[in-house]
Amino acid sequence: MPFPLHRLRRMRASPALRELVRETRLDPGDFVLPLFVRPGKGVKRPIGSMPGQFQLSVDEALKLAAQAERAGIPAVLLFGIPEKKDPRASGAYARNGVVQQAVRALKDRMPSLAVLADLCFCEYTDHGHCGVIRKTKDGFILDNDATLELVGKTALSLAQAGADVIAPSAMADGQVQAVRKALDRGGFSGTAILAYAAKYASAFYGPFREAAESSPRFGDRSTYQMDPANSREALREVALDVEEGADMVMVKPALPYLDVLRIVRERFGLPTAAYNVSGEYAMLKAASERGWIDERKAVLEALTSIKRAGADFILTYHALDAARWLC
Ligand code: PBG
Repeated sequence: MPFPLHRLRRMRASPALRELVRETRLDPGDFVLPLFVRPGKGVKRPIGSMPGQFQLSVDEALKLAAQAERAGIPAVLLFGIPEKKDPRASGAYARNGVVQQAVRALKDRMPSLAVLADLCFCEYTDHGHCGVIRKTKDGFILDNDATLELVGKTALSLAQAGADVIAPSAMADGQVQAVRKALDRGGFSGTAILAYAAKYASAFYGPFREAAESSPRFGDRSTYQMDPANSREALREVALDVEEGADMVMVKPALPYLDVLRIVRERFGLPTAAYNVSGEYAMLKAASERGWIDERKAVLEALTSIKRAGADFILTYHALDAARWLC
């Protein structure tokens, strides 16, 4: 019976027909490029577990951001590696903190590029956790209220520097509300919030922790980040963040959580981002360096799947490569 064989294959017969029926199209406008900034000048330090990615001083970050803008990428996401770390993460909200400097420089030189500022403390604390830690008799606990105080302070400091979007990622309960309140009180009601709403306690953050020098010195993040086994809980996380004032929500990581991404996008309808994290990047890089996989095809396939699953935009270290491949 030839009919069943031809039924679907008719429209796959040529590149032109495949182009016509393609349901998902990637575009450089879908990407946000994450950048790691550190103090200094002329610094471009390779990150071993993320080939092609660097810790950059502000001047070097400007160069990369300019390349991104030329490639049609509308936004960058900033992470900072401070000079000094301490228990209260003071580098995160220092007026002259490294991210604050980078934001000011970017908004000054490239005003049309959107600047998203990640708001977390693990890069700034000497213990490497995402907030204020209290020791207990059986270990430690992340002090939610004390952390929220720092969240508010940091949000205001990043907005004052000129960030267009604040992206709280500490996974403290109430962090979105703390950001919104601090912004509104400080006169920044126009600054938007991208909430890391469903952020899982994932092994795929491994390379990032080398990049941001943010590995916890003890314990792990499983009392504040989500259990990979849960998806209904992700919906509760997102619902709370939306109630607290999130303008956009994020699912993170991306590829192992496409099911979560799909339901979040369908259920809430808010602009929904997916973070294609460091471990996802490192896997494709490692396999392609060994010649085990075609990098370009694999990267574009992975990014297309993330968009197909429901992402309105994708935070990805592949942004610059992918944008160039798509031109
Ligand atoms: C900070 C933060 C992390 C990532 C983004 N913000 C890591 C973590 O929770 O340890 C991971 C990003 C990546 O892996 O690319 N909390």
